[in-house]
Parts: sequence; C-alpha cells; structure tokens
Amino acid sequence: MLPGGVTRPLPPSSRPRRLRAFPALRALVRETHVHPSQLMLPVFVREDIDGPNPIEAMPGVLQHTLDSLRAEAVACAEAGVGGIDLFGVPLLRDEVGSQAWDPEGILNRAVAAVREEVGDDLVVCADTCLDEFTSHGHCGVLDGQGRVDNDATLPLYQAMAITQAESGAHMVSPSGMMDGQVRAIRDALDTTDHQDVAVLAYSAKYASAYYGPFREAVGSTLRGDRRTYQLDPANSREGLYEATLDAAEGADLVMVKPAGPHLDVLARVAAASQIPVAAYQVSGEYAMVEAAAQRGWIDRERVIDESLIGIVRAGADMVLTYWALDAARRWAR
Ligand code: PBG
Repeated sequence: MLPGGVTRPLPPSSRPRRLRAFPALRALVRETHVHPSQLMLPVFVREDIDGPNPIEAMPGVLQHTLDSLRAEAVACAEAGVGGIDLFGVPLLRDEVGSQAWDPEGILNRAVAAVREEVGDDLVVCADTCLDEFTSHGHCGVLDGQGRVDNDATLPLYQAMAITQAESGAHMVSPSGMMDGQVRAIRDALDTTDHQDVAVLAYSAKYASAYYGPFREAVGSTLRGDRRTYQLDPANSREGLYEATLDAAEGADLVMVKPAGPHLDVLARVAAASQIPVAAYQVSGEYAMVEAAAQRGWIDRERVIDESLIGIVRAGADMVLTYWALDAARRWAR
C-alpha cells in the first residue's frame, strides 16, 4: 500500500488542523478582526477642476471637487468608516506654501465643507504638511542653501494647524517629519483655545519609494528627495525613538508609515506605546495590488483583506487606507 520503503509515521500528538475544519469553528478562534470604525480614508481635494478626476496610478481613487468630497464623506459616515483624512491640491504654490494657512485655501475649505456635512459622525482629520503647497514640493521651507530649514518651518505648521482647527478639523496630522513639530503644533492649538483638537503624529515615516503614486495624486513638484527628514527604511530603533519623542511632545496618536513594508516597526512601536497606534497603508501598496488584480494575477478582495488583517495583527489600532470605504461596504454585504 505505502510507496516503496516508506514506513507509516506515528500519528501526530497535536492536531492544530482540528480548529480549521469549517467556517464557524475558524471564526470562533480568530484572533484578529478589522472593523470599518478602525479605518480612515485619505482623500484628495483639488482646486482647479470641474468634476472628479481619476488618478492614473491609483485606479479607483479620485481627486475630488468640494462637492464630490462632501458626497464621499457622507458615504464614509453611512458605511461606518471611522474617519477621513484630507489632502489639498491647490492651484497656486509658492516658496513657503502660504495657501496652507489661508482660510480660503482649498484644504481649509475642504475641512469646513466636510465638517459641515458630517458633524461628528466621522472623525475629520487634515494633513498638516507643506509639500502640497510649496513650489519646490518639500515638506518645509528652504534656507539659502536649498536645505529644508527645520526651525523656520515650525511656525508655518503652527499657522496651518490653527487654521485647520478653526475650519473644523477634529484632528490634525503633521506628516512633515520636522523635529519638534508635535510640540510646536500642540502649543499653537492650546494657546488658541483648541485644546480638544487631537494630534495624529506621523512618527516613524520612512523615506519610501511606495509614495510614488501619491505624488501624482497631489500633483507634486518635488525637486530632490526627502531623505534628510524622513527615516531610512533600514532603521527600526529610530522609528521607536521618533514615536517616543512624539508621545512626549504631546501626540495623541503615533503612526508608522508605510505599513506593509514596516510591520516589524509597527509591532515594536505598538508594544512600547501607551497611546493609540496608527498605520498608513500608502499609495504604492494600493497601486501594486490594484495593478496585479487588473491583470488577474491575484484575488483582489482577499489580498486587500489579508493586508489589512496583517497591519492590525502587527499592532495598529487604526489604519489609514485608500480601501477604507470599499472595504467597509464590502464587509457589510
Ligand atoms: C507628505 C505625504 C506623503 C504621503 C502622505 N503625506 C508623501 C511623501 O512624504 O512623499 C504619502 C501617502 C501615500 O503615498 O499614500 N506630506
């Protein structure tokens, strides 16, 4: 009966397969659940367009008008998505990014529009960074030598955060990786009567090639790269250090970004953090899955769900993902 020369092995003494036999049993012992309320949808709102505009490198993601943004925010609230994170694509850019703190700037108008639409049904977060607003595309202002000037940038972040709070943001999210940005923003909010506006700190934000499609999404004009302010992907301890500093500076949440390639950092930060931990599944992670799925090479929905489960299993309390609305609607079926 057995192939030549093979003897029958002893029966296994442990049988982990026992709990995998049928769906109800698997569900009973499942460790990780992802709920729509843990997801936040990053959205782009662009100033100079008549209707929503597709982003080629992010199939299914749009640059919104203020009107289509309102509808998207309502759809998120109806689907039970936890929050929305707003990014602005302005018509005019200058050396210092002054549209960022102009109350009539596209991002601040978007914050006000969304807040008016959803009230407190959805957490309204604004990206607090200058890169969409500067003519050179850097996250801060440049000094005479063309280097990103950390300390000259901080007051601009303060002005931006105050305007976002005044426009109605529940949460601001400094993503520029300037040293001291969390404390500067916390101080600015506290001294302008915005004590209740939370700070979602991009703490371990890596200088990542996975941000490629985002550059198209915001029409970035970046000259050079961000390696003097974003983290070297080789460093994990430094990610933990940044998260520790941000918590001490008054962050309400810390973030690791990109999520998928840096799950070990996420796990490390989650193990050490006493405040909630967020992870950002970025544009490149989105684009790769959508591109492979379009070619029929992978099962799109299963890969999306597995990627989100992996991020939550690694320790994220909440996930920023371009699939937030898509996943929330799908899981409700
Ligand atoms: C910059 C910013 C970036 C992203 C979010 N905020 C780009 C960058 O740092 O170069 C990337 C998000 C994504 O790729 O989805 N403030």
